[in-house]
Amino acid sequence: MNQHAPNDQKFRTSLLEENDGPGHNPTDNRTMGDIIATRFSRRGFLKGSLAVSAIAATVSPIAIILADDARAAAASAFNFDEVEAGIDDKHHVAAGYDADVLLRWGDPIFADAPEFDPLSQSAEAQARQFGYNNDYVGYVPLDGSAEHGLLVVNHEYTNEHLMFPGIVKIVEGKIEVAPADQKRVDIEMAAHGGSIVEIRKEGGKWQVVRDGKLNRRITSTTEMQLTGPAAGHDRLKTNADATGTKVFGTVNNCAGGVTPWGTYIMAEENFHGYFGGELPADHPEAANYKRLGVPEGTYEWLKFYDRFDVAKEPNEPNRFGWIVEVDVQDPNSLPKKRTALGRFKHEGAESIVAPDGRVVFYLGDDERFDYVYKFVTKGKFNPNDRSANLDLLDEGTLYVAKFAEDGSFEWLPLVQGEGPLTADNGFVSQADVVIETRRAADLLGATKMDRPEDIQPNAVNGKVYVMLTNNSKRKADQVDAANPRAENAFGHIIELVEDGGDFTATKGKWEVLLKCGDPSIAEVGASFSTSTTQNGWFGMPDNCAVDSAGRLWVATDGNSPKATGRTDGLWAVDTEGEARATSKLFFRVPVGAEMCGPLFAPDDQTAFVAVQHPGDGGEDWESFGRPSYYEDLSTRWPDFKPDMPVRPAVVAITRQGGGKIGV
Ligand code: FEO
Ligand code: CA
Ligand code: CA
Repeated sequence: MNQHAPNDQKFRTSLLEENDGPGHNPTDNRTMGDIIATRFSRRGFLKGSLAVSAIAATVSPIAIILADDARAAAASAFNFDEVEAGIDDKHHVAAGYDADVLLRWGDPIFADAPEFDPLSQSAEAQARQFGYNNDYVGYVPLDGSAEHGLLVVNHEYTNEHLMFPGIVKIVEGKIEVAPADQKRVDIEMAAHGGSIVEIRKEGGKWQVVRDGKLNRRITSTTEMQLTGPAAGHDRLKTNADATGTKVFGTVNNCAGGVTPWGTYIMAEENFHGYFGGELPADHPEAANYKRLGVPEGTYEWLKFYDRFDVAKEPNEPNRFGWIVEVDVQDPNSLPKKRTALGRFKHEGAESIVAPDGRVVFYLGDDERFDYVYKFVTKGKFNPNDRSANLDLLDEGTLYVAKFAEDGSFEWLPLVQGEGPLTADNGFVSQADVVIETRRAADLLGATKMDRPEDIQPNAVNGKVYVMLTNNSKRKADQVDAANPRAENAFGHIIELVEDGGDFTATKGKWEVLLKCGDPSIAEVGASFSTSTTQNGWFGMPDNCAVDSAGRLWVATDGNSPKATGRTDGLWAVDTEGEARATSKLFFRVPVGAEMCGPLFAPDDQTAFVAVQHPGDGGEDWESFGRPSYYEDLSTRWPDFKPDMPVRPAVVAITRQGGGKIGV
């Protein structure tokens, strides 16, 4: 049945999230990315760790002298021996730390779940095992413990060429990819979603509690409820659901959050890729879907499930692109799609309690030229009554950010009836505003950003960090103060300070914390401190974490042989004093992987990191010398057994002998 067809497309990779946004530049001008790519590709992947010394040779003399500036180095909030940047098939962590694999794709997470057998996979088994491509990692303490809790993990998407044998053939130098059959699609759907897994630290090492009563898998078929202003609206009704409130499954859950009341947030990001078929050009949802790139058609689910075919079920895409909230204390609870937080390519939803008790969620819309949002609950957090908080996400105000050249910013409310958000513009009710959040934000004049990813409030210093991964399509005449580089191949980080230190404020000040990329290449315009070594710089900030001391840790997506001559990893970034914008490499992933998570346990004694899509060719498999697929992988991390494929996994990093990380 494996009928292979020539396929000029790349394998399904994290590139899905780089689909062109509305600012797509149709010219073929040489970009900054091309210039840098040429520079790194000459070194080649096959040189392996030699790439590090090749990079070192490019350091300017000034940078070498300044790298020895002991005064700035002494001011760093971090203390560990930096990992050497480079590329190979393994992970690497700073000396004196253990990086232990805790949960791999396919690991059983229930007492009765089958062991992983890559040659005999089934949807039934996968639904009882840890899913694919772990991204967000959160921790919900049990009994207030830093050593016993629920690990909540998103499974963003699937890479079939790495998961299944017989998908790829190389015929006369061309890649041929087998079309999907229903069994494979069902496994893919079961490998999506999220996992809730009880874990416990014993003897300094984390263990999975397989018979944990709260363990749960959420997949692309789990029943969920739509709540908030769009619930029940005609635009959410389908043949299968006349109520517009009942939806099956969640997809492309990228980053997320754990709320102050201990629920788990799964953000639906690149949902457009799951929909195919053709919507008539005059269909009422045509403009809505065009703004979101729906249908994109990467996945083949529509062959077997009509709801993913927009010609057959035109409203189904309106039921995705939301923030999903899961009550982890009840494994039978219906996850809720909270429509009040808007519909777009949600990266994550990290939150903080404001001084008056309202709760503020920071939200990124990860696409080139899209926006930064926040949501402020109407009600107040009640720390003494968990159940009183469980529907806080159904009422509140959604805002979008507008950044001014003078270093100030404003949060513009997305409220029906205010400003241009009226029936004349198609916004008859708040349901229309949240269903078409992007179009509403367009009308308000929000600032078009360079792919907003994770946004993290810092409870220690009151600031908020915004990761902007990159935007190679920004032209010179589209540069603004908050997106200061044309052809921004390596991204940047912005720091926000809300007025009065109040996270509910509608105004504040911002500044660029860091422009990323190789500081030794003048054209890149990176702004790492001069204390940052050749191992310490990075490109493409994506996820981030703030530990309980208020220190910033940045995880990346997109470093590669071609882009930066190094793999992705976890970098410690100073934000205060003389050491500000100094970065150090703490952990790096095996070849082809992206660094997700990260998360610090409440006692700062464990850093959980998620190694996503290891062994994937990514955007530049040419520089690997060959494509990487099930039968011919660039790495067999983490098992390194010839009969076991590469497996995305969550890793727990602890200090040998115990103690806090990086002090
Ligand atoms: Fe799934 Fe925006 O990273
Ligand atoms: Ca991400
Ligand atoms: Ca990403």
